[in-house]
Amino acid sequence: MKLDYDVKYGLEGVAVAISSISCVDGVKGELVYRGFKIEDLVENSNFEETAYLIWFGNLPNENELDFITSMLSKKRELPENIIYMMENFPKNAHPMEVLRSIVSILGMYSNNDNSTLEDAINLTAKIPTIIAYWYRIKNNLDLIHPRDDLKHSENFLYMLFGEIPEKSELFDKSLILHMEQGMNASTFAATVTASTLSDVYSIITTAIGTLKGPLHGGANERVLNMLDEIKTKEKVENYLNSLISRNKKIMGFGHRIYKTYDPRALILKKWLSNMNEKVKYFDIAVKVEEEVLKRFESKKIYPNVDFYSGILYNYFKIPKEFFTTIFAMARIVGWTAHAMEYCKNNRIFRPRTIYNGPKNLDYKKVKEVERNG
Ligand SMILES: CC(C)(COP(=O)(O)OP(=O)(O)OC[C@H]1O[C@@H](n2cnc3c(N)ncnc32)[C@H](O)[C@@H]1OP(=O)(O)O)[C@@H](O)C(=O)NCCC(=O)NCCS
Repeated sequence: MKLDYDVKYGLEGVAVAISSISCVDGVKGELVYRGFKIEDLVENSNFEETAYLIWFGNLPNENELDFITSMLSKKRELPENIIYMMENFPKNAHPMEVLRSIVSILGMYSNNDNSTLEDAINLTAKIPTIIAYWYRIKNNLDLIHPRDDLKHSENFLYMLFGEIPEKSELFDKSLILHMEQGMNASTFAATVTASTLSDVYSIITTAIGTLKGPLHGGANERVLNMLDEIKTKEKVENYLNSLISRNKKIMGFGHRIYKTYDPRALILKKWLSNMNEKVKYFDIAVKVEEEVLKRFESKKIYPNVDFYSGILYNYFKIPKEFFTTIFAMARIVGWTAHAMEYCKNNRIFRPRTIYNGPKNLDYKKVKEVERNG
């Protein structure tokens, strides 16, 4: 059959928008937010400043940074009713399920029917509280309420553990690494929802549902499962042989755009190798990387951001089922920036499928339907 349209499964190589938010160079292995290299941003910036950059397009001056910092710090608390609901959720609910559901419910508490930066900031401020409250509720611990005198990531770690751990600046920088990455699956899902002129809560609910999948943000949790299963670096080769012989993908490797080292993975690996103490899982991960690079040289499969991020979160004693929520806590900035940018020249997304089913069948009443076998 001659097709009038090309089918691009997974939209590989298709551009759906023109954007000035970030540039992902998959050949050189470079990532740039609004013109600034990711390496410079993690070296010099913090969550609040980079969020401002991504939302507004330029680095903030002092007043602007104070503005965004104070907006984010004042909106952290959740409505009482929502806390009550969370306390009654099944304790085995996955943190991503809880996050997706509470973000959706928060939409009922907003007065805005359409997407606004105010709602984007409101949700960005509240997502860490949802995650931390769920951690405390799940573990039968008293809630630790947010403080408005702490920075975004310090406050998150404080709400989780009641104290701010050493090296918390690395956690903050890891959020910068996850904030934005062009038209990835969850950002695309967010943009599709935005293109219908829906509200920010619906946009972010869509995005969280998409991020949750193991081929996207859910990979970071699976990487730790894999490292747990491998147990020692001596067992890496056999483990990989078994995966590869069953045609299973190796979590934390491969990327649609990066056909070289993902710069975010390189940065995370450098931080982990520079720690003074031995970091759990790191030696096994390095061995996995070495073996995968050898075996998949021709396919250009390299570690992606999810390969080393979980090892860092584990270092901060964050349980692995919470890893993808931390990805969401950072990526909301990119999701909302893309949604707002796209809507400036909005056109609703409406691709098509090419029908290859039957036509002109005769309708049969239910009693006449016969099924073979
Ligand atoms: C990220 C990902 C979904 C990209 O998918 P994609 O662009 O559609 O790439 P493909 O799945 O078409 O992969 C191309 C080839 O590399 C192989 N490949 C890709 N990632 C692989 C991996 N992690 N392990 C083993 N093989 C992999 C594919 O099997 C395919 O081989 P083939 O050409 O012989 O069929 C994919 O690499 C993957 O599933 N990775 C594991 C999950 C993960 O880490 N996700 C986080 C991404 S940030």
